[in-house]
Amino acid sequence: MSNSKTFLSLTFFTTFLFFSFVNATYYQDISPSFLGFKQEKLTHIHFFLHDIVTGPKPTMIIASESPLNGKSESPLPFGSIVVLEDPLTVGPELNSELIGKAQGFYVTVSQAAVLELELVMGMTFVFTGGKYNGSTLSVLGRNEIISPIREMPIIGGTGEFRFARGFLQAKSHAVDYHKGDAHVEYNVYVFHYPSTSSSSEDFAEGSRFMKEPMFGQI
Ligand SMILES: *[C@@H]1O[C@H](CO)[C@@H](O)[C@H](O)[C@H]1NC(C)=O
Repeated sequence: MSNSKTFLSLTFFTTFLFFSFVNATYYQDISPSFLGFKQEKLTHIHFFLHDIVTGPKPTMIIASESPLNGKSESPLPFGSIVVLEDPLTVGPELNSELIGKAQGFYVTVSQAAVLELELVMGMTFVFTGGKYNGSTLSVLGRNEIISPIREMPIIGGTGEFRFARGFLQAKSHAVDYHKGDAHVEYNVYVFHYPSTSSSSEDFAEGSRFMKEPMFGQI
């Protein structure tokens, strides 16, 4: 009788201890400086994106055709999905200095059968040279291509762009309506914490996290 009581209270105690460890260790408040982030900074980045439809190496493909294909006036009817990998350059010419690429997709989201497309775009700018080599910025938003200036949110980033938030403005620089090729000017405005360490370095604080709060409880 007394043994089973001891057993029960021991079970209860270990369970309680286990849950208090779990509660104590799976999250904690930290300050940005704990991860080496000092001051949030606003950066403006300017480049040109090239969406090449024709030629030997198109930078985009229609990954999924709409069921409305052939039944709609729209060149990309409601539901079409396009996947892109577009080069990003410093100047407006395709052969100007390459700084990265945009990898992503766009979906036609308007049911109106018109030439003026309304898209939702999701893409990541991957920088491959210079100060931001290896860092990325993620974009998700609505792109109404008839507007002279299209604005989309920057929803995050990696490397130099950790904690990124901001917006971009896209403006057609040159469009070949016959071929479909488009050269688009991008102005990106982003708040971020530039890292004080190498952008690919792992954070060592994870291991500290496992030990300190737990021992603190005992
Ligand atoms: C960018 O970083 C990669 C990986 O660290 C490196 O191999 C490459 O040479 C860098 N490119 C430029 C243009 O600095």
